[in-house]
Amino acid sequence: MSITDELFEMRDVAIAAVREAGAAIRAVAAQGVKEIVFKGEGKRDLVTEADKRSEQIIIDAITRRYPDHRILAEEGTGTGGNGAYRWIVDPLDGTTNFAHQYPLYCVSIAVEHRGEPVVGVVFAPYMDELFVAIKGGGATLNGTPIAVSGVTDLIGGLLCTGFPYRLDGPTNNLVNWGNFVLRTQATRRDGAAALDLCYVAAGRFDGFWELNLQPWDMAAGALMIQEAGGTISDPYGNAFRVDGHDIVGSNGHLHATMLDVLAMSKNGHGAGKPNAETEQLAGQADTATASDAATI
Ligand code: IPD
Ligand code: CA
Ligand code: CA
Repeated sequence: MSITDELFEMRDVAIAAVREAGAAIRAVAAQGVKEIVFKGEGKRDLVTEADKRSEQIIIDAITRRYPDHRILAEEGTGTGGNGAYRWIVDPLDGTTNFAHQYPLYCVSIAVEHRGEPVVGVVFAPYMDELFVAIKGGGATLNGTPIAVSGVTDLIGGLLCTGFPYRLDGPTNNLVNWGNFVLRTQATRRDGAAALDLCYVAAGRFDGFWELNLQPWDMAAGALMIQEAGGTISDPYGNAFRVDGHDIVGSNGHLHATMLDVLAMSKNGHGAGKPNAETEQLAGQADTATASDAATI
């Protein structure tokens, strides 16, 4: 079987798995979430019976067809090994949204071949939206090709970000948030990183950035953006790495400007120095300064 045929087959296995997992998640939602436990310290990082049920369904589907493939899954039921393929699974991205009946949540599966994402499948069960990407084969939403937006100015852009569960660390993203809010048409926090990245791919958001993420939050959505014609990198402009924790994804036009805004703050992993050049970024005479933002 050619590698292309293999990718198509893995895509189809992933699509069937996310649909089955999505139905299980909807079933839990319909009955009301009964079990919520907290991961680690604090009351922010939740896991529900839907996360676990979804992961079990997906792992079963993958191992039934590909017993030798490696799996990295958020709730810990993955498998090791040395094979060329690795599946990266977020069984429910946006668990907090799900627990509050806020409908933005999804199931995300990516497949890597020798470390490079080659298949991405993200399904938002409440919205019934299925995003699919294959390396070199483009990205689709419910079967229709998608492309990033054509917005070229930050002030014309709708951006999205997210925040880590632990907010006491040096990269809690709050200063970046202020710096972007002051320079964009609007900035959102939607609470499901994998889906947020797909929304960039579909041209709904013009850019997304987040720090402290995990491979399962980013792998499928990052491929989606690339295949939809966008750009991904780390906050310094280096090549994106699935295990690199930080991501900037954009329509391409806004990428350099987003990196410049992130460079205003140490908390964006940047230089930490606002300067005259970055103050002109959005070409807005009426925006507050970066140092104003830093005091938010
Ligand atoms: C979380 C969501 C959220 C992001 C967090 C992630 P989870 O994933 O993607 O948007 O801000 O950093 O951990 O816990 O709902 O799978
Ligand atoms: Ca996640
Ligand atoms: Ca999750």
